Amino acid sequence: MSFVTVTDLFLDYDRRPILERVNLTAREGEFVAIVGASGCGKSSFLRLLLDQERPSRGTILVDGQPLTGEPNRQRGIVFQRYSVFPHMTVRDNIVAAEALGANPLGILGRSARRDARARAEATLERIGLAHVAGSYPSALSGGMQQRLAIAQALAAKPRILLLDEPFGALDPGTRLRMHDFLSDIRTETGMTIFMVTHDLPEAFKLGDRVIVFDKTRWDPQAPEAYGATITYDFDARHGGIPYQTPKEDPHVPVPA
Ligand SMILES: Nc1ncnc2c1ncn2[C@@H]1O[C@H](COP(=O)(O)OP(=O)(O)O)[C@@H](O)[C@H]1O
Ligand SMILES: [Mg+2]
Repeated sequence: MSFVTVTDLFLDYDRRPILERVNLTAREGEFVAIVGASGCGKSSFLRLLLDQERPSRGTILVDGQPLTGEPNRQRGIVFQRYSVFPHMTVRDNIVAAEALGANPLGILGRSARRDARARAEATLERIGLAHVAGSYPSALSGGMQQRLAIAQALAAKPRILLLDEPFGALDPGTRLRMHDFLSDIRTETGMTIFMVTHDLPEAFKLGDRVIVFDKTRWDPQAPEAYGATITYDFDARHGGIPYQTPKEDPHVPVPA
């Protein structure tokens, strides 16, 4: 059963095509890794899934329903680099994220708050930030703030998690640790994940599928004349066998 259904999606910015004819279905709990050249529209695609952006044409259904335009943290949350609350301690940042996932006002009762604090401590232990639990984000390095922001996104337990190049600023050891953390949380929660990455091995390691955005039509005289679409859809769990082969040959020049 399809959980996220994208049908004939087009996106233009100021009449410039960014995405064209994007079709995708994802099952609940699936991990879809997204790769593609810089500027081809991957972040825009995540914003469309989050309903922060409206398509020019086409539809997105989640659980059979069109997106409503209302903020809905159960539905999705985008990890934005360093989107932490500066006036809260590291620990409270995670508690607040969990509370906002639970209800729109982020209100927790006293015992729920105590439980959330204990979970935040456990999370900080797992991601190697326990020693800075009482610090403010400004005291953290960029990589540590990035880890905190990932932990926040996960604490909110959205049904759909949208991650935009989440591990970019991390050193290789920390990156592996965060891979394990994300995989564990995913197993625990069964959330559906869309993750943009520029690291192909990372895409195949974490994703069940790896989809590639690219332009299938090119006009050398007008490189911005066409948008990108999904050109490949690989099954990352079975040796990278394509689910779907491209319908058109990529990079075939358009005849003058
Ligand atoms: N709000 C916007 N208004 C106009 N153009 C935009 C906007 N956001 C992104 N773009 C343009 O759309 C294209 C795709 O951007 P983006 O989705 O960020 O690509 P990617 O994430 O794949 O690098 C880029 O050329 C970018 O300059
Ligand atoms: Mg981007």
